[in-house]
Amino acid sequence: MQIHSSIADLRQALQGHRRIAFVPTMGNLHAGHIALMNRARQLGDLVVASIFVNRLQFGPSDDFDRYPRTLEADCAQLAAAQVDVLFAPAESDLYPTAQQYYVDPPAIQHELDGEFRPGHFRGVATVVLKLFNIVQPQIALFGKKDYQQLFILRHMTQQLALPIDIVGGETVRDAGGLALSSRNAYLSPAERAEAPRLQRLLASIASAIAAGARDFAELEQQAFAELERNGWQTDYVAVRRQSDLQPPEADEREALVVLAASRLGSARLIDNVEIDFPNGR
Ligand code: PAF
Repeated sequence: MQIHSSIADLRQALQGHRRIAFVPTMGNLHAGHIALMNRARQLGDLVVASIFVNRLQFGPSDDFDRYPRTLEADCAQLAAAQVDVLFAPAESDLYPTAQQYYVDPPAIQHELDGEFRPGHFRGVATVVLKLFNIVQPQIALFGKKDYQQLFILRHMTQQLALPIDIVGGETVRDAGGLALSSRNAYLSPAERAEAPRLQRLLASIASAIAAGARDFAELEQQAFAELERNGWQTDYVAVRRQSDLQPPEADEREALVVLAASRLGSARLIDNVEIDFPNGR
């Protein structure tokens, strides 16, 4: 595996390759990332990963400073997954001068996670567009765990007419159902045992809706209350349409998704479960 930190070196290494499949990450890789690398290998001729903890997408009270940085172990995992090229720039490579041009996503950036992390999606969209310009991939892969991020990046790619196929990878979970995340490292053993409750609650909302429940607000409130009773501090539990992440009508016929973000101790966990209606309702 080649490893580059400079944009110029990376561009030279990528010259002449036709079907680049790109997986941007912030490192501290787990099986969810590796599943994306494996999918990338099926889709592209050359697999490029990036590792960059992007300051622009962290708020002042977010975990930028303590975000786990494990480059050596990450490189070993990427090499084992047969990734061809890793781009691992320093901040001075990617932001040699303070970034003054931004990608400002539309109103959805202020909803759901964006309501609780102001500026987050602006920082994500800006760095991802910059990485796209550097790597110039034909395919880019992102995990569905960050559902709103995937939605915004797909929309950005369409609206800016970028010639890139955006592929969403299924969320990888541990045996208890907890979505794998670098932030799970912040959980104490007791919190770790409690953490799968989030996915169980979302799955039970999804089952209730699939079985005909229509009072979405009531389902959201019940889940919120159960999380609070069990020591969580919840930002939101929300049922939304998959197509535009807006609240569904009571007689909605489109596919839905239930999303949540909640804090357990010092870890802020997010998760979601899709609700598809293959034959309509
Ligand atoms: O999902 C992530 O790891 C990050 O938000 C991303 C897409 C690599 C941008 O920094």
